[in-house]
Amino acid sequence: MSTPRTVPGIRSSKRRTGSAPLVMVTAYDAPSARVATAADVDLILVGDSLAMAVLGYDDTLQVTIDDMAHHTAAVARSKPTAVVVGDMPWMSYHLTPRRTVENAAKLIRAGAHSVKLEGGAKRATMVEAIVAAEIPVMGHIGLTPQSTHVMGGFKVQGREAEAARRLADDAKALQEAGCYAVVIEGVPDVVGELVTEAIEIPTIGIGAGPGCDGQVLVYVDVIGLENRFKPKFVRRYGTAFDDQSAALSRFAADVRDGTFPAADEAYKANDTLTEALGLYGRAPSPSSSAQAPQA
Ligand code: KIV
Repeated sequence: MSTPRTVPGIRSSKRRTGSAPLVMVTAYDAPSARVATAADVDLILVGDSLAMAVLGYDDTLQVTIDDMAHHTAAVARSKPTAVVVGDMPWMSYHLTPRRTVENAAKLIRAGAHSVKLEGGAKRATMVEAIVAAEIPVMGHIGLTPQSTHVMGGFKVQGREAEAARRLADDAKALQEAGCYAVVIEGVPDVVGELVTEAIEIPTIGIGAGPGCDGQVLVYVDVIGLENRFKPKFVRRYGTAFDDQSAALSRFAADVRDGTFPAADEAYKANDTLTEALGLYGRAPSPSSSAQAPQA
């Protein structure tokens, strides 16, 4: 049985003060959240990667706050011990502080313990508004997928010294605005380190090198359910696509050759019913007289 994690516990998990690296994984429904809980992760991110990982979109811009609340609720119903982070989708925190707080509240009411949003210093006002409503906020800088059109695609960020320093400033601005942790995505490893050293709150990296205070990966990448492409920073720990398609192929073969279901996988009627239906003594399956019913 794993220990329930808390936001204050996460906030104080800095590796330079001796904390173990934080482990975060995305999950989008109750079964994946149960698996993540069994693996004793520290944080479950109901990421807007939902759009691509589960809903079949080409980018994350298509999901709405209601989509995110729906999936956050499914994760929360599994009662994870990890801190559940609800990702705020594009256009849910860009307009006014009031709408931003209302949208963050939707994710909290759905069962999240905190929310995450993308962007650095320019998001400080929105972060402050959410924090003022007693909702913990995780930041997200570097390669921010919601900015795909501005970045010209999913491109590594912070490759120039000036851009790297701006990322460290962004992380500081998020910390000052009240974030309890910051995701750094898609930056050179030294930039991951620079940002981690620049702030007191933990950094959680994805494609940001080993110098961060924790690591996050997307569920379907970790278990190998996504088998079409593998970004450089992904390590697959399973072969879920192959395992699951092999299992379904065996199911299909058993149905087609009549070996599923077997006699002991069917409900049995008593003799009275069997007799009343005029089926007494008849084999249940056209394919297998060896599997005659035992009343
Ligand atoms: O949506 C997501 O999965 C994320 C992670 C890549 C950090 O934001």
